[in-house]
Formats: sequence, C-alpha cells, structure tokens
Amino acid sequence: MSATAPDAAAAPPSGAPRPAAAEPLLAVNNIEVVYNDVILVLRGLSLAVPQGEIVALLGANGAGKSTTLKAISGLLRTEEGEVTRGDIRFAGERIDGAEPHEIVRKGIFQVMEGRRIVADMTPVENLRLGAFTRSDAEVRRDIEMVFEYFPRLKERTGLAGYLSGGEQQMLAIGRALMARPKLILMDEPSMGLSPLLVKEVFGIIRRLNRELGITILLVEQNARMALSVAGYGYVMEQGKVVLDGTAEQLANNEDVKEFYLGGHGAERKSFRNLKSYKRRKRWL
Ligand SMILES: Nc1ncnc2c1ncn2[C@@H]1O[C@H](COP(=O)(O)OP(=O)(O)O)[C@@H](O)[C@H]1O
Ligand SMILES: [Mg+2]
Repeated sequence: MSATAPDAAAAPPSGAPRPAAAEPLLAVNNIEVVYNDVILVLRGLSLAVPQGEIVALLGANGAGKSTTLKAISGLLRTEEGEVTRGDIRFAGERIDGAEPHEIVRKGIFQVMEGRRIVADMTPVENLRLGAFTRSDAEVRRDIEMVFEYFPRLKERTGLAGYLSGGEQQMLAIGRALMARPKLILMDEPSMGLSPLLVKEVFGIIRRLNRELGITILLVEQNARMALSVAGYGYVMEQGKVVLDGTAEQLANNEDVKEFYLGGHGAERKSFRNLKSYKRRKRWL
C-alpha cells in the first residue's frame, strides 16, 4: 500500500445529511392517531424497522395495525385520520405530515389490505400505474422484473378484476415494486388466500427482501407465517405495542403461542387480562 494512495475512508462526507449508522430506516416514535378529531386509535405507539430487515407487526382485528401503516404512508388523511403526537422518521427525516405522494417518492409504498388493484384494467396497465414518469424502456424493464417474480401475471392479459385472489395480491405487490421502493408496508398479504398461495406469497416476500434488498414492515394476523419470514416482531393491542422481540423469541413466547399461534377458533384472550403477562414480558 503506497502512503500516497488516496484514502477513501478519509474522504469528506457528501453534503447530504446522513442518518447515524445506528438509526433504523424507519422509526415510529410514540405516535397518537385520532380519526375524525375524536376517536383515539393509536396511543403512544413506537416501533423501529432497520434497513434490510423484515419486521412483523402482529395483533388481533381492530388493534390498530392498518392505522399504523397508514400513519407511515400518509394515507391516514384520506380517512380523516391524523397523527396528533409523536413523530415518524424515514432515513433520518421526519415524514409525518408529508403528503402521500411525497412519501412514495421517498421510497415507501403501502400494499393496502384487500389488494386495491384496478379491476377494469389489465395487469400491465395496473403495473404502469405504479411507475413514476420515467422512460418507457425503463418501465418495460421493471414490468419484466415484476414478471420474473410473478410469472403467472404475464399470462393474464384480461382485466385484473378476473384474476384470482392470489393473483390480485401478487399484482398489488408487483405494483409496489414498480415504484422502486426502499420500504414496503404490507397489510395482511395472506388474507383470503389458500394455504398454498399464502406460502407462495410469503416465499416471494422473502425473495424481495433478499434479492432486491427491500425492507419490509409486514402486518399479519397469520403470526406463524409472519414470524417465519421476519427477523423481529411487535405485538400490538388496542393501539399500543404490548410485546416485542426477535421472531424466535416471539415464536417461543408462551403468550404469543397461546393467543396468536394457537389452535383455530379458540377465543383470543387479551394480554391485559393475563396476570402473568408482566412477569413473562420481563425477559424480552
Ligand atoms: N377511518 C376510520 N374512522 C374511525 N375509526 C377507524 C377508522 N379506521 C379504523 N378505525 C378504528 O380504529 C381501530 C383500529 O383499526 P385498524 O387500524 O383497521 O385495526 P387492524 O388493522 O389492526 O384490524 C378500530 O377500532 C377501527 O374501528
Ligand atoms: Mg387491518
């Protein structure tokens, strides 16, 4: 090594402020969300999603999972919802209060619950909707990339409304990819799908993370599937995080097993009603 060689490590940082290494890609800090000025749905919710990770957000129906995702993507405002306390940071920058399209441009894309594709357009037309204004050649390349992940969408040239539930979910994820996101917020991708399709969709989620480096915040009621792909998870109840830990810790947690991984049809009790909850929580 020559002493006169330029020292790359000593190069001055580029002008743009960069987040400290320890800062997660997404940080939700103690947020409160209110709908219609009165209904308090999130009550001091915090979570962090590190760059390159898959993080699961679990919880029963009505816990506030979708509200959390909409607070991040800015889509809350289309439902008269508002973040009234706390803040949300993406790559070190505050995004609460930003317009949904600005948030998409920063690299966050939400795949809505219930898929929300445009039924009277073809799959390719739906994919083009997800693309920004860029060259047609680039858009075509991205569409081909989506088809590599979802080959069967390529065969479907009819209207998207006639796709099966699984194919619609794939199209919704494909449309997110067209926006070249850094972070995808996924709301219940397994909902309404057969067990085989759930496996397929989760396999693709894992590939998007590993092959494209996309960070994913995954909302699921299917805790077993979610914890099988996620590295870390949060459990929320009534607008708050009640438990968090590595996927392994959560999968082995007695309460999670009982309430979220347990048998079907059994009535889910609340963590709140569980005397032992606080004691068990301490080890996490
Ligand atoms: N647009 C809205 N206006 C008023 N209340 C809402 C709205 N959306 C959701 N809620 C309420 O917020 C709570 C959490 O809902 P949601 O975030 O959809 O939960 P989850 O996705 O965990 O099932 C529920 O009690 C729900 O009724
Ligand atoms: Mg929901």
